Amino acid sequence: MRKKIVAGNWKMNNDLAETQELLSNLKMQLVKKPEAEVMVAPPFTNLHEAFKSLKDTPVIVAAQNMHQNENGAFTGEVSAKMLKSIGVETVILGHSERRAHFHETNEILAEKVNAALNNEVKVIFCFGEELKDRQSEKHFDVVAKQLKESLYHIADASWENIILAYEPVWAIGTGETASPEQAQEMHAFIRKNISEAFNENIAQEVSILYGGSVKPANASEIFAKEDVDGGLIGGASLKAVDFLEIVNAF
Ligand code: 13P
Repeated sequence: MRKKIVAGNWKMNNDLAETQELLSNLKMQLVKKPEAEVMVAPPFTNLHEAFKSLKDTPVIVAAQNMHQNENGAFTGEVSAKMLKSIGVETVILGHSERRAHFHETNEILAEKVNAALNNEVKVIFCFGEELKDRQSEKHFDVVAKQLKESLYHIADASWENIILAYEPVWAIGTGETASPEQAQEMHAFIRKNISEAFNENIAQEVSILYGGSVKPANASEIFAKEDVDGGLIGGASLKAVDFLEIVNAF
């Protein structure tokens, strides 16, 4: 059975002291073991702190990005091996903000996926259409292309280290969520697409998260959809109480 997962993408928020406060609130309010797997992704500077702080909890610490090379002259970058060495075993790749602001292409992302998998780092692979794609009814084509060009070269066995996160760009940080029906429609399409490119078993086993303005008020109805296995949460993951309400929204 595929896993339910709720992951908080903290993006470029919180200095060390603010992170310590958020971590301590999370731990304090995490009274029962959640049904879903819970992850948080702090910025690089706070990964070690988060890892130390959450060590005895079920919360998994993920990174928000990594470089595709193992080491070398890539000023400002961090490799999969470096993440592994501090205990981080999951990385978010392909977030639309990285695609838009840092020019990450499907090709570069394919290399990053390989680097992560080669280092036994799990990937939360993000993708999703822009508003103009949906308005011109190209959203299925755009998503299929993103998946094909960055992910469909992997071996069948690697799928167990992949989590998908469908994040329509028009719903990120805008307060405008995809309707539960729109999310379900796309998630079902993704599963069918994977089934055709690989097989039905892989399609059924991979967790597909929805991301884009998920809040405590709308999480339950989105998570109730058959092909939605959880969420990748931005803004609402920065408040422990809201994040945990979403974690428990299944
Ligand atoms: P928001 O939840 O703030 O819309 O962000 C979603 C997101 O980008 C998670 O990666």
